[in-house]
Amino acid sequence: MKAVVYDRYGPPGVLRIEEVARPAPRDDELLVRVRATTVNRLDCHTREANRSNGLVISGVSRLVSGIRRPRQRILGTEFAGEVAAAGPAVTGIAVGSRVFGNTGLRFGCHAEFTCVPQTARVAAMPDGMGFEEAAAATDGALNALWCLRLAGPLQGRRVLVYGASGAIGTAAVQVAKHFGADVTAVCGPSGVEAVQAIGADRVIDYTKEDFTSDREGYFSVFDAVGKESFAHCRGLIEPGGTYLATDGFRNLLLGFWTSRFGDRKVMFKLPPRYTQQDVVLIKELMEAGSYRPVIDRVYPIEDMAEAARYVETEQKIGNVVLAVRDR
Ligand SMILES: NC(=O)c1ccc[n+]([C@@H]2O[C@H](COP(=O)([O-])OP(=O)(O)OC[C@H]3O[C@@H](n4cnc5c(N)ncnc54)[C@H](OP(=O)(O)O)[C@@H]3O)[C@@H](O)[C@H]2O)c1
Repeated sequence: MKAVVYDRYGPPGVLRIEEVARPAPRDDELLVRVRATTVNRLDCHTREANRSNGLVISGVSRLVSGIRRPRQRILGTEFAGEVAAAGPAVTGIAVGSRVFGNTGLRFGCHAEFTCVPQTARVAAMPDGMGFEEAAAATDGALNALWCLRLAGPLQGRRVLVYGASGAIGTAAVQVAKHFGADVTAVCGPSGVEAVQAIGADRVIDYTKEDFTSDREGYFSVFDAVGKESFAHCRGLIEPGGTYLATDGFRNLLLGFWTSRFGDRKVMFKLPPRYTQQDVVLIKELMEAGSYRPVIDRVYPIEDMAEAARYVETEQKIGNVVLAVRDR
C-alpha cells in the first residue's frame, strides 16, 4: 500500500511516499481503508521530536516515539474510511461499514490502510457525512471534551475560549455550547467569521479588543492554543472557577499548586484519557447538528509535506485534511 513515512526526526522534508506492506488485522482488529486523514499538531510535534519545545520535552518525546529514530514510521492519528476486513473476534461491524476515529499515539493513519482494535476510538460515521469531514472530527473534540469536563457542570456558566480558531478551539466552542455554557470566543481577525458560524455567543478579535478588560468574569477560561497564561487571565476567573490548559509544563506545576491553595484552579491533566464512548458522543453531536468539524484546507496525501508546513504556520482555521484517493 501507499503510505507517508519518515525515518528520522526533522522538518516536513523528511516525509516521503513509499510502498509498504499492508497491515494485517489481529483477531480483534478492523482493517480500515483510509479515505481521509488529517495533519495535526501531534503529527508535527512528533515528527520533529518536539525540538521546538526544549531539550527536556524533546527527550520525553523520543522516549515515547523512539530514541534515535521513530519506531512508528507512519504518522497520522485521525481516519475516516471503510472497513476492508476484520479479525475473527470482531462482532457487529460488517465489512464495508463507514467508520471514523482516532489512533492517538499508535498513529498509522497517513496510509491507504490502517488497523484499529474494535474496542478502540472508532465509531460508525453519521449517515450522509463525507469522509473528509469525519476524518477531522476527533482530534479537537476529544481534547475539548477532556478539558471541559475537568471544569465540572457548565450549564448556564460563562466560558471563555482563547485560541477559538484552532482545531481544539473550534471544537471547544461547540462542545461548551452543547454543555449549556454561554461562550465568549477569542481569536485573530482571520478566524472571526468561522468562529461566529459555529455558534459562539460573542467573538472578540484580540487585535482589536483586550479580552481581559471584561468586567463580568468567567467560570472557566480555556486556553485552547497554549498561548495564554493563568497569571494573565486570573482576574477574569470567578472565585471557584477554573483555568483549563492544553499545553505547557508550567501548567502542571500550577495545577498541583492551585489544587491546594487559592480559590481558582488550573486544570491540566496528563495523559488525557479518550474513550470509544467519546467518539460515539462526537458522532451523536454531529448527527444532532451540535458539532461540525471546521475544515480549513484539503490536500491530496501526496502533498503531505506542504500540508505539514501549513499546519506549522500555526495559522490554520480548524483542521487540515489529507484526501486518500484511489490510484
Ligand atoms: N492538536 C494536537 O494534536 C495537539 C497535540 C499536542 C498538543 N496540542 C496543543 O493543543 C493546543 C492547540 O492545538 P491545535 O491543534 O488546536 O492548534 P492549531 O489548530 O494549530 O491552532 C491554530 C490557530 O491558533 C491561532 N493562534 C495562533 N497563535 C495564537 C495566539 N497567540 N493567540 C490566539 N490564537 C492564536 C491561529 O489563529 P490566529 O493566528 O489568527 O490567532 C490559528 O487559528 C496547542 O497548545 C498544542 O500544542 C495539540
